[in-house]
Amino acid sequence: MFIALEGIDGSGHTTQAHALAEALTRMGRQAYVTAEPSHGPIGKIIRDFLQGRVGDFKRFQESLTLLFAADRLHHYGTEIKPKLDAGIDVICDRYVLSSWVYQGLQVTEDWVRRTNQFAPLPELTLIIDTPISDAKQRRDIRGGIEEIYEVQHLQETIRERYLELAPSIHAVIINGAGTQDEVSKRLVKAVAEKLT
Ligand code: TYD
Repeated sequence: MFIALEGIDGSGHTTQAHALAEALTRMGRQAYVTAEPSHGPIGKIIRDFLQGRVGDFKRFQESLTLLFAADRLHHYGTEIKPKLDAGIDVICDRYVLSSWVYQGLQVTEDWVRRTNQFAPLPELTLIIDTPISDAKQRRDIRGGIEEIYEVQHLQETIRERYLELAPSIHAVIINGAGTQDEVSKRLVKAVAEKLT
């Protein structure tokens, strides 16, 4: 099964992707965790930009949207599809819904949808809906470079957009409040329901 995990910055999707893979393994399945922006060549350009190392995509949001879409197609072809073809579950930490939400802040919905039209959709998209203040606390503890979207007022809008767009991709919203273990159990339950 192809699963995408989504949520605002600091919502714990990366940690939860790994916890979910472990749970699937315990269920006797094989699981592979990957992420977008990917670790491929296009993903590297995107990360360099997000962390302020290269380029001025801020004024060229359409180009940035194309980069995310190009990274997605390359990532799907080189990494995701081969695993799925081998019968391995793939958990992707962020996927197409991230573009709808984040790039949709600055470019038209039509532009985001058209540029992403070639990306196969996951069978299950899970949105971890974490309270804004909890997510900020996690980002503060994590430290490191503050990326361009990690601005508090944007995070509120991003959370609202996730909730608004969820039905269009049949995403399941998971309550992200509570301990890591509590959230993990909710995610596993949603996946188990999909598998039955
Ligand atoms: P990520 O490394 O997952 O950041 P975090 O762990 O802090 O959530 O993603 C980096 C940033 O990239 C994040 O702010 C969201 C953004 N992003 C987009 O804007 N569009 C996309 O399509 C993807 C995949 C990510």
